[in-house]
Amino acid sequence: MIAHKLIEKNIGLLIVLTILVISIGGLVQIIPLYFQKSTTEPMPGVKPYSAMELAGRDIYIREGCNTCHSQMVRPFRAETERYGHYSVAGEFVYDRPFLWGSKRTGPDLHRVGGRYSNEWHYVHLMNPRDVVPESNMPAYPWLADRTLDGAEIQKKMRVLKDWAGHPYTDDEIAQAADAVNGKTEIDAVITYLQSLGIHAPKAN
Ligand code: HEC
Repeated sequence: MIAHKLIEKNIGLLIVLTILVISIGGLVQIIPLYFQKSTTEPMPGVKPYSAMELAGRDIYIREGCNTCHSQMVRPFRAETERYGHYSVAGEFVYDRPFLWGSKRTGPDLHRVGGRYSNEWHYVHLMNPRDVVPESNMPAYPWLADRTLDGAEIQKKMRVLKDWAGHPYTDDEIAQAADAVNGKTEIDAVITYLQSLGIHAPKAN
């Protein structure tokens, strides 16, 4: 009782002790996440992005697609009915940086892989209004004119391997240049979109 009175009447002490209690609570919640398999290990089937997917992902960031589209299905009924299984941590272990976001001018894209054909995406990116008349998404026709640079992709894969530990083999990096050379940016973005969320857990 005496200690309680002392703390209540001494604002400095109250602040220090409050911070201490919140810090301990925070650490108890956060530290275990670094050691739990469900947050640190990839979901079955989740692999580092292929050369084409990686190129597409970088173009997606460059064009600011992530400013209108989130990539995180929340665990609410309204979301899972619309998009599919909610997103889980093990699906994002090779996402650097994460593109979760919260701004949704357009729909969430985390489960868009396999939902439409490549042709649909092509037409949609060239001019969204051709397939969704009421769409206010910008058109990205220049993506079809620009080609990819194999050497650049190899460099990115090497950095991800050496600095972030993504398990690319030397063979995969060697073949990356051939995989993207001659392909256009729109091909890469579509390959990336088709890879999104396809390793979701099965049951809802
Ligand atoms: C200004 C906001 C905005 C930006 C930037 C934007 N989009 Fe969209 N996007 C939308 C809106 C709104 C829709 C819904 C209407 C439609 O389907 O066109 C949409 C729909 C989509 C869909 C269909 C999703 C579904 O489930 O039906 C895909 C795929 C998509 N966008 C990809 C992209 C990509 C890739 C980029 C970047 C190259 C991009 N978007 C940039 C607003 C945006």
